[in-house]
Amino acid sequence: MHQPPLPFNWPPAQPAMPRTRYQGSKRKLADWIGDQVKHLRFHTVLDAFGGTGAVSHMFKRRGKAVTYNDILRFNYVVGKALIENTRCTLSADDVNWVVSEHPQLDYPDFIERTFAGIYFTTREDRWLDVACRNVRHLNDPYKQALAYFAIGQAAIAKRPYNLFHRRNLYMRTANVKRGFGNKTTWDRPFEDHFRNFATEANQAVLDTGQPCLALNLDALDVQPGYDLVYIDPPYVNGNGVGVDYRAFYHFLEGLVDYDRWPERIDWSSKHRCLTPRPGPWTRGARIGTAFRSLFRRFASSILVVSYRSDGIPSPSLLAGWLREIKPNVRVHPYPGRKKYALSTNPRAREVLIVAAGGT
Ligand SMILES: C[S@@+](CC[C@H](N)C(=O)[O-])C[C@H]1O[C@@H](n2cnc3c(N)ncnc32)[C@H](O)[C@@H]1O
Repeated sequence: MHQPPLPFNWPPAQPAMPRTRYQGSKRKLADWIGDQVKHLRFHTVLDAFGGTGAVSHMFKRRGKAVTYNDILRFNYVVGKALIENTRCTLSADDVNWVVSEHPQLDYPDFIERTFAGIYFTTREDRWLDVACRNVRHLNDPYKQALAYFAIGQAAIAKRPYNLFHRRNLYMRTANVKRGFGNKTTWDRPFEDHFRNFATEANQAVLDTGQPCLALNLDALDVQPGYDLVYIDPPYVNGNGVGVDYRAFYHFLEGLVDYDRWPERIDWSSKHRCLTPRPGPWTRGARIGTAFRSLFRRFASSILVVSYRSDGIPSPSLLAGWLREIKPNVRVHPYPGRKKYALSTNPRAREVLIVAAGGT
């Protein structure tokens, strides 16, 4: 393993990671996570469950060679845009190109036909059909990735609960007094959101001179060999129910795989989700085995695990498994409060387990 001499040269925490409403994002905790491991010697990092890329981006800002990974295609595209990408940004012309209709192009209407009345208004569905078509005419894969990032974030921002788990456009459009959500944000045009997120994405692009990469694999299939592996899997609550990211964000998966979207949809579902693909990380009965397989696979790396105090397995069980393979295991409760969407446990806390030493 490559071991650069200490002390590290920590660049300032700029450029910033874009804001996001993605479930489980560690954007607000990222610098705290980096601080818990800054005394350790490491250079190559695998962010095995990368999500928004917030933790990858923090390590990238700190001069590490980062490999981002996520099993979802949309997230992989985000990893390409914000982590692997070192040079490419969207110009004003690119942004204008994505938001305009071009007479020389034929526009499909798949979203407008398929999702009528489910997530967005007819006009908004049409905007998405047009934007997805336009993105494919941008002449650089990183530009395309940045544009998909901005379209996806715009779509999340406009959704009640910021999810696609239900057919609930009515929550947005009904003329009632609401105790939750932000109707102004929901009703703001796609184009405005898109322009803002494109600007934020551009500002996150940086070149540290270190090679960074994005992968789209099951975490258990990534080749080992990193100095440090950060593990932030879906969280399973005390009742054994896990966060199924594919079910929550299927619509974004479709946006980045537009041509194959029809064949991937479960047409029997009311909200036109993708055909479910259950995995071990969303099941209380199987998640323990998955954690232990992952720990064994990356046993020669420093292992850093994010989890919740009220999760299955418990942080103390996770720490016990890590002690079987690592001599130095420390559990750090996050000193601040993190707000969890859809959570019913106000006492839940974020926990970071750092396992180092040995091999
Ligand atoms: C808690 S989120 C990670 C959040 C991330 N640390 C951030 O700051 O945004 C868990 C992520 O794991 C991904 N995931 C689920 N199953 C996976 C698997 N088998 N392999 C890789 N990624 C997976 C999900 O798509 C989701 O983005």
